[in-house]
Amino acid sequence: MSAQRVCVSDFEEEARRVLPKAVYDYYRSGADGQSTLADNVAAFNRWHLVPRVLRDVSVVDLSVSVLGQRLSMPLCVGSTAMQRMAHPAGETATARACKAVGTGMMLSSWATSSIEEVMSAMTSAPGSGGVLWMQLYIYKDRELTLSLVRRAEEAGYKAVFVTVDTPYLGKRLDDVRNRFKMPPHLRMSNFSSSSLSFSEDDYGNDSGLAVYVANAIEPALSWDDISWLKKHTRLPVVVKGILNGQDAVQAVNYGVSGILVSNHGARQLDGVPATLDVLEEVVMAVGGRCDVYMDGGVRRGTDVLKALALGAKAVFIGRPVLWGLACQVTPPHPTRDGCSWIRTCRRILMTSCCRSVAEVSRSLVRRADCTSRM
Ligand SMILES: Cc1cc2nc3c(=O)[nH]c(=O)nc-3n(C[C@H](O)[C@H](O)[C@H](O)COP(=O)(O)O)c2cc1C
Repeated sequence: MSAQRVCVSDFEEEARRVLPKAVYDYYRSGADGQSTLADNVAAFNRWHLVPRVLRDVSVVDLSVSVLGQRLSMPLCVGSTAMQRMAHPAGETATARACKAVGTGMMLSSWATSSIEEVMSAMTSAPGSGGVLWMQLYIYKDRELTLSLVRRAEEAGYKAVFVTVDTPYLGKRLDDVRNRFKMPPHLRMSNFSSSSLSFSEDDYGNDSGLAVYVANAIEPALSWDDISWLKKHTRLPVVVKGILNGQDAVQAVNYGVSGILVSNHGARQLDGVPATLDVLEEVVMAVGGRCDVYMDGGVRRGTDVLKALALGAKAVFIGRPVLWGLACQVTPPHPTRDGCSWIRTCRRILMTSCCRSVAEVSRSLVRRADCTSRM
């Protein structure tokens, strides 16, 4: 009998065993030398938790409000492309899991299930919560871009997260070595033509996705495009991919509803800081004028708590969900693993003596190098 999987790295190890190499490499990789990839995770060890005691934590409330929607916990599923490479039900399984645990899911523009399919999977799944948000890449073809937004609005998605860190695709060395492209039975389901659905036969000697991005995605993106997007949608707009206070202030000035501090899971520009290390700078610069979220390297319940203490309203996970999908037998039971995240977060709040997310404050964390000098 195989050993029980009890943490994200156990799931990753199993996923590495069961997935085709090119798929595992695509999911795992960071850009270039991958120093930021390791640092996103390591950054959490640079902060210690400093809990209080004796505060009656027999009842704990993990719920939070994100963009006007109540979620069961401050941990949400981030947008990762092409989830059907990990499991035949892909994004629809993830949506059902999010409904079951009452949290939010951001659907990638590059999903292998359509905007409508994913909404229908979430709506018909058992459970009472669950929210869908749309992640948007801005295409050179603006009408095409707006058609994604309109479809998300019509289907009942609650916000648009526009990715602002991908004017070109980061160089992921394994994807170049593997000449990564979509397995032939799959396609990006939100598009009809083979060129836009990433289902061409030949992308030459490069990463197929890098060629796709160079052909289709707008490299001339600027702040004016945030105004353009806001003008064309009634949904809240969140910018995904901010890494410093200056851009955060600019985003606030352009009227965004939220900022997602993200380095794209270290897949775009190697050498940028770990997201946890810039979170507080962004939170201070924003000064409460919009919500701040973060992703990158979140692997444990204690990571969630540290990010909240540094000012994030909620955090997102990317790869851990892919590892979970890859490990499921059919029919998928991602709810089991989602529920274990809730239990973990509750246990960690309790052992830190916080009765609710609102009680998580800056005093709960201290830089590890400062703690050792005390
Ligand atoms: C395999 C994979 C695919 C991704 N696809 C997208 C995407 O389509 N759009 C996007 O904005 N970000 C994408 N991201 C970035 C994630 O949304 C998120 O920022 C990142 O995964 C968080 O880091 P983590 O994987 O360490 O949790 C992707 C990340 C991975 C690992």
